[in-house]
Amino acid sequence: MPLVNSKDMFKKAYDGGYAIGAFNVNNMEIVQGIVEGATAENAPLILQVSAGARKYANHTYLMKLIEAAVETSGLPIVVHLDHGPDFETCKSCIDGGFTSVMIDGSHLPFEENIALTRRVVDYAHERGVTVEGELGRLAGVEDDINVSVEDSSYTHPDQVEEFVHKTQCDSLAIAIGTSHGAFKFKGEPKLRFDILEEVSRRLPGFPIVLHGASSVVPEYVDMINQYGGKLDNARGVPEEMLRRAASMSVCKINIDSDLRLAFTAKIREHFALHPEHFDPRQYLKEARSELALMVRHKIVNVLGCNNKADA
Ligand code: G3H
Ligand code: 13P
Ligand code: ZN
Repeated sequence: MPLVNSKDMFKKAYDGGYAIGAFNVNNMEIVQGIVEGATAENAPLILQVSAGARKYANHTYLMKLIEAAVETSGLPIVVHLDHGPDFETCKSCIDGGFTSVMIDGSHLPFEENIALTRRVVDYAHERGVTVEGELGRLAGVEDDINVSVEDSSYTHPDQVEEFVHKTQCDSLAIAIGTSHGAFKFKGEPKLRFDILEEVSRRLPGFPIVLHGASSVVPEYVDMINQYGGKLDNARGVPEEMLRRAASMSVCKINIDSDLRLAFTAKIREHFALHPEHFDPRQYLKEARSELALMVRHKIVNVLGCNNKADA
């Protein structure tokens, strides 16, 4: 099966009450670990690439790795630009073979966000590429931009119909209390399900996206701390909250920090147990296998998209 856009995938996810995992990729072992996990669970997959990942690994390298993933797995795979910062980056990804892009105008005034998103949609739709927009602003760190809690804002449900109607975007990321990175909540985790419900009521059948949705799996945080790391007060979104969101209108759940934690935890453990090793294949192989296990866990226990690849 060739690369696909997100249209059909999201329709099935919406109707089936599950979500697709959108996992960030930065190098070969990360792509391979995610694809191994999704293949074992026969799950549809979104591999997403940030502007920072393109800068780190090069667009063509990442695209070729993802093409290899499609060829070897036979799974339906979307290659998606995560947090597209401007029209030019979206255009470059569309011209370079991506099947889906996000244009992140969430920091702009409402009308400017609409105009920018619409410009990307017009370019993308002519080429069969789907577009994710964003309304509301998450706290946390992405691409070295740190959005403080004070500067974050929940999505206003009374803006979503106008936004979707005027932009014609295919999915919408909303802010309900999740945030990027490994330090999501100071106290008790809390998500505004009332906002999600109201958005869903106003946009029946329309796919919603959750960013900042890593659970910051405590086992990995503990492993990192045990082997010389220092991650105090790391805290993520509880899995039961994500499961609830996936059973509602949320069709795409973004996961990056959990991949980073699993990968790093395993490498730290490897060096603690084998200080004499220096062949990268020895520790990267273990980190890759750990990613595959983590992705399987997410697919089965959080997203519910296992065995949906041919649905
Ligand atoms: O939301 C951001 C993603 O976690 C990507 O992070 O910009 O550091 O690649 P990055
Ligand atoms: P996490 O930092 O919670 O993994 O979120 C990733 C994300 O939203 C990528 O766009
Ligand atoms: Zn994000």
